[in-house]
Amino acid sequence: KYHQHPENIGLASNGFFGRFDRRQLQRGFQVYKEVCSACHSLKYVAFRDLADLGYSEGEVKAIATQWAIEQPSVNPETGEATTRKNIPSDRFPSPFANEVAARAANNNALPPDLSLMAKARHDGTNYIHALLMGYRAQPAALLKEFPGTKTPTGLHYNPWFANLNIAMPPPLTSDGQVPYADGTRATKDQMARDVAAFLTWTAEPKLERRHAAGLASVVFLLIFCFLAWGAYQNVWRDVK
Ligand code: HEM
Repeated sequence: KYHQHPENIGLASNGFFGRFDRRQLQRGFQVYKEVCSACHSLKYVAFRDLADLGYSEGEVKAIATQWAIEQPSVNPETGEATTRKNIPSDRFPSPFANEVAARAANNNALPPDLSLMAKARHDGTNYIHALLMGYRAQPAALLKEFPGTKTPTGLHYNPWFANLNIAMPPPLTSDGQVPYADGTRATKDQMARDVAAFLTWTAEPKLERRHAAGLASVVFLLIFCFLAWGAYQNVWRDVK
């Protein structure tokens, strides 16, 4: 009775012929940049991969050098840990030096890397959207039936999270939180959709090539079936 499936957000990249909506991916990247990157890394995605979203080489360079979270580095003279500006070949860094620091800043929870989140969770794309939109007050009926599930202080009730109480505070709190460069109205739902689309791309940047290869294979097999059938007719033509 408490179990539901996330809403299907129906991305342009879904389905046999699906292709990414680049404008949506750019908006989703903006949400990641302005909100999620404060806690979550994308350790399998490099700044230069953004070229695939339609950013020019110059824009990628600017995004990397202006990125608020710098790369961990070592001072070659003193051996001290320090940071340096990002370059296009760097991956999106974590804001925390290590797991201990990350947990210390997050009520002992660890913000996971988001690169593959859309694949790591069941129905991940829709899950990310549902999770971001899912924060609410804990239903009284649930609490009455299962008193042990009361949300502890410091956690947040979210029916989409596996154990119902998540350490992540609601990241999307108000409409217009991310001022979209393309003029799209940044409702909470729109931002959640867009960042889910962006994280679908980070988890499978070669989705379009996979779809194209699949299509080419099916077309080839259809032609091949026809040829094989023709050859069969030809070989047995004289045999009664
Ligand atoms: C966990 C997405 C912003 C802190 C997660 C999870 C996702 C996610 C998908 C994993 C849930 C799971 O394990 O199933 C996002 C997105 C964000 C965002 C898309 C931006 C829109 C933030 C921010 C913070 C944060 C700004 C820090 C203030 C955390 C923490 C966890 C988490 C601590 C671990 C939760 C737990 O294990 O209880 N986030 N996040 N996130 N996030 Fe975020």
